[in-house]
Amino acid sequence: MDRTRPPGVPPREDSTPADDQQRARVRARAILGKVSGRWDVVVLRHLAIHPRRPGELLRVINIDLEPGGQLSRPVLFRVLARLGRDGLVESRQVPGGERATLYTVTGLGVSILDRVSQLARTSQLGAAEPGDWWIPVDEGNTALDLPGIDTSKPNVARMYDYWLGGKDSFAADRAAADQVEALFASTREMCQHNREFLRRAVTHLATSGIRQFLDIGTGLPTMENTHDMVQRITPEARVAYVDNDSAVVTHAQALLATSQPVTAVRGDLRDPAAIIANPEVSRLIDFSEPVAVVLAAVLHFVSEHEQPDALLQVLKGVMAPGSALLISHATDENVQASTRERTVQIYKGASAPLVPRGRERIEEFFRGLELIPPGLVNVRSWRPLPGLAGEHGDLRSFLYGGVGIKGA
Ligand SMILES: C[S@@+](CC[C@H](N)C(=O)[O-])C[C@H]1O[C@@H](n2cnc3c(N)ncnc32)[C@H](O)[C@@H]1O
Repeated sequence: MDRTRPPGVPPREDSTPADDQQRARVRARAILGKVSGRWDVVVLRHLAIHPRRPGELLRVINIDLEPGGQLSRPVLFRVLARLGRDGLVESRQVPGGERATLYTVTGLGVSILDRVSQLARTSQLGAAEPGDWWIPVDEGNTALDLPGIDTSKPNVARMYDYWLGGKDSFAADRAAADQVEALFASTREMCQHNREFLRRAVTHLATSGIRQFLDIGTGLPTMENTHDMVQRITPEARVAYVDNDSAVVTHAQALLATSQPVTAVRGDLRDPAAIIANPEVSRLIDFSEPVAVVLAAVLHFVSEHEQPDALLQVLKGVMAPGSALLISHATDENVQASTRERTVQIYKGASAPLVPRGRERIEEFFRGLELIPPGLVNVRSWRPLPGLAGEHGDLRSFLYGGVGIKGA
């Protein structure tokens, strides 16, 4: 059966649409014919964010769903087979045997998803009669709503993932990220420098004996995550990831399901008390022992009226002596006022506003702690590895980084 053309819709070349609305209906039907069941869009959207094995996919899809409304394994396999036949997903074997089949969305699948999102936004979906065969009447259009994932609005976690070379972004994220990159040609390098600063700093802390890490503003899982970095030094190091983006948490949970002792929870830096009280956090993090609180490239998403100093004070208050606070933060120093304004404007349309700050202001965030050498410097110059750029001198960067230690 030609699933791109529902019954009753003539082939495109023969159609004589009377007006734009009719054309939109035909187009909507053709597109929706590709995603004919309730779970199709859900599965596609999850796979567009991250290629997955069926077991992982089932787990991340069902995380937020009520027990009665969960996707079952047989239905998932039927959906994957159908999407595969339509050319929207493809699978490949990865080392690990029969069960290790990785599913990923094809280019066609991505464009279908984009169109579905667009149609949902422009309400052309309404023009496609509910109950038509490609969207069963008892299931309605609910497949188009995936809780926690809004692909139409630039998302700061996915923009960052895009700059890092990840595959978890959507068109809106990439468009905003490209606009930022047009203003700051070195954006991708800066993201890499930030990750390298994170690695050097947490490695130093693990080497210094810190065995538990609270990483707030985790970001989408990438090549090497905080637990990979610190468990290389201390295999039993405990890591709690916290992010206010449910998609980040969902991915982190799926990725970390087999990594112990690591957890990922949803939480907001602007509500530190809730993070501290989260039972999953306190399962791994014992605040009576030294802990490293990691705030890498996240504090610049907290505005002044949200009182970042007071939020940090809550965290510093529970940290035991010997604990560390790691911060990397965007700066607007050496940035023309017009460029700063344009950057801030781009982020105003995104999931979080950007608040770049000057060095002195960022240093205030360490109040009450002792900054370890070299202090607050651009991230490239924080204890650079011998032979690497940054070893001799303070190279220009738009991110400051530092580590403060709480005294006795
Ligand atoms: C630029 S990424 C940084 C990722 C990682 N920490 C790094 O430095 O590579 C910022 C992350 O902070 C998260 N974020 C933004 N505002 C937040 C908030 N108020 N509370 C918790 N997470 C937040 C975003 O969802 C995103 O995952």
